[in-house]
This record gives sequence, structure tokens and C-alpha cells, in this order.
Amino acid sequence: MKLSPEEKAILAGKRGPAARRAMEIVAALGEIYGADHTVPIKSAQISGISYKNIGEAGLDFLKQWASEGARVAIPAMMNPAGMDLGRWKEMGIPEGFARKQREVVEALAAMGVQPTLTCAPYLMEPRPSRGEHLAWAESSAVSFANSVLGARTNREGGPSALAAAIVGRTACYGLHTDEGRNPTHLVEVSCPLRDEADFGALGYLVGKEVKGGIPYFRFLADSSPGWDELRALGAAMAASGAVALYHVEGITPEASEVMLPPSHSLKVKSLDEAYRALSSPPEQVDLVWIGCPHSSEKQLEQVASLVQGHKLKARLWVTTGREVRQKARKAVEVIEEAGGLVLADTCLVVAPVEALGIRSVATNSAKAAFYLPSYAGVRVFFSSLERCIEIAL
Ligand code: F3S
Repeated sequence: MKLSPEEKAILAGKRGPAARRAMEIVAALGEIYGADHTVPIKSAQISGISYKNIGEAGLDFLKQWASEGARVAIPAMMNPAGMDLGRWKEMGIPEGFARKQREVVEALAAMGVQPTLTCAPYLMEPRPSRGEHLAWAESSAVSFANSVLGARTNREGGPSALAAAIVGRTACYGLHTDEGRNPTHLVEVSCPLRDEADFGALGYLVGKEVKGGIPYFRFLADSSPGWDELRALGAAMAASGAVALYHVEGITPEASEVMLPPSHSLKVKSLDEAYRALSSPPEQVDLVWIGCPHSSEKQLEQVASLVQGHKLKARLWVTTGREVRQKARKAVEVIEEAGGLVLADTCLVVAPVEALGIRSVATNSAKAAFYLPSYAGVRVFFSSLERCIEIAL
């Protein structure tokens, strides 16, 4: 990979040991993936924030980098942590975990990373625009930024996103290039899709088939997804497969410009297989969880309209970003008056669920339904938002 004089100077230690280590990571990834130069990035989004996931080794790594004087050179944001930083007691998080989780956030904040603690940073301003290069790590956010906004990011790991943030650039390969963005599979969907759960179910099926490919969707039945449906679709494909970009005919910004795949095609006529694979019967539900990916204002309002004037019988947690929670104050009040909890900064997949006594969850998120059984040993009932709220009531 060709390095600029500035990049060579960073590698030689001109900006200190922390920046040198970051540049080494970016350059090594460029070599591995055959990039011939780097590109400047507008923002980075860093995963591996939950102490549950990174443990003591990860925390030491971050503290070490911070103590060497690492500072991000561009806006950088954090993915969700294992708890709401302000309401962890209400979640039932043990004191010891809370202390360690705060240390992780503090180490990153010392490097200049903003404690946004959301997997939906594209719901905040400024939103990435088409053609902008990013180094984002959360798979559902990567999918949304590439597919719906037309920005360009590979699926980074936590350390590589942080390294890119420190040097303000990333290696130019894969989804940063024009040729890396052409679809690999044509997916024709002939069954109607009613809601986010259906889009998530579709994403589960397609991700499993195309793995790391780039699907191009043609919806044959009457389906016109909005942002929330596309978020559910992308998040599920990134979970059951490793899809980081998809196109939807007539909807996503690059769909009319890409070259259609010559051979691979897939036809989806029913979602039954996905619901069978992701859902167990709701014999007993400890918690209803909405907000994977983190809820938008519209989704908070939908939940509020379903619970308004009722008292919940089961626990309901709705997860979102701090900014969205602030903007949707009225909806939040309604949900909490009914007995629900609107949490920011966190998500159930990265929270220490085992310590919270949660054994079964109902959710409308296919991504959550995919991960919760293996990550947290939780039994999942996966269904529409309306059905999940009905259970909570
Ligand atoms: Fe976000 Fe957690 Fe789901 S990070 S996409 S709410 S698994």
C-alpha cells in the first residue's frame, strides 16, 4: 500500500507510540486486503464497548492506548454499553459490573470518543451523506450507512475502527471502492411484508444464503419499506450472514446505478421458515424488548400509542439512543407511565442478562432473536410489535 509522507511519519513515531500503533493497524489491514492507498474518513463508530464482551483484557488494552496519549483525529462514537449509564440500578445491573463498564467508557472518552452509546448513530445529526468514507463497526449501522445513505464503510472491528479514528483514515478496499459495491445476488421477494418483524425475518433468510454477499432486492408484492423496515432488514442480514451493503430496486440510492449480478438469484415466497427458526412459543415471558437496532422517534411513538392508558403486566424495555430519548420525551413519558422503561446507552444482547434473571424475552427484532439464545442463553418469542406489546399487557 502506498503511504503518504504524513502516514510514513506517523509510522516512524512522529505523533507518538499510540498513533504509530494505530497507523500500523490501518496499514496492515490495507496490505491484507490489497488496498493501494488510504482514504480520509468523516467519522468512526467503535464497537466492543460492553464490559461483558471485552472483559478485563479489553479494558486493559483501551487504558493502555489512552495512557500512551491516543486521541481521535475525527468525530468518533461509541456503540452501546452493557447498561444505561444513568439508570443501571433500575435495570438491576450489579455494582461491580457498573464500575468496570464506566471505566471502559472513561478510557474511550479520554481518547476523545463521544459517549453516544448507540448502534443507530445515523439517527443523530450530522448524518453521513452519499459517498462519504467512514470507519464504522456496528454491523447494523454499517449496513444502514452503506445501503440507505450511500456512504462507504467496511465492517470494521472495534480496534480497527479506533485505529482509523486516531489517524483519521482507513485503507481503501472493499466497500470503499466502486467495484466493491456491485450486487452479487438478485433476490426476488414475492410474499407481502407487513412490518419490521417481517423485514427482519426476510433479512434472516437472505443473510443465511448470501453470507458476505451484496443482495439486490426486487419486491414483487406490495412492499414499500421506510427507514425502520430497512433497518430491521439490514440488521438481520448482518447477523445471520455478514451483509454490509444491500440495494433495493427503486428505493436505495445506488440501486439504479449498479450492475445486476449475472448468475446468483434467490426467490423468497414465504417467511415461515424464519419465524420457525427464530421463535419459540411464548409460554412465559420475563421481558418484552423493543429497540434492536435502537428505536427511532417514530418507533417510540408507536410503542407509546399501543400502551397509552394501560398498565403493563410484564416488564417492557425499549432501548434507544440518548438523543432520540430526549427528542421523544412525550412518548417516553407515556411508556413509563404504563410501567415500561426506556433505556439509552445499552441493549440486551450486550447487557449482563444472566445476572438480571431474564430467561425468556419477546421481541420484534430478528437480530435480537438470532443472538439472544446463543449470547445470553435466553429463550425468544419473535413476533410483530403489536403482538409483543399485547404480551406485555
Ligand atoms: Fe443495537 Fe444491540 Fe441490536 S447493538 S442492533 S440493539 S444487538
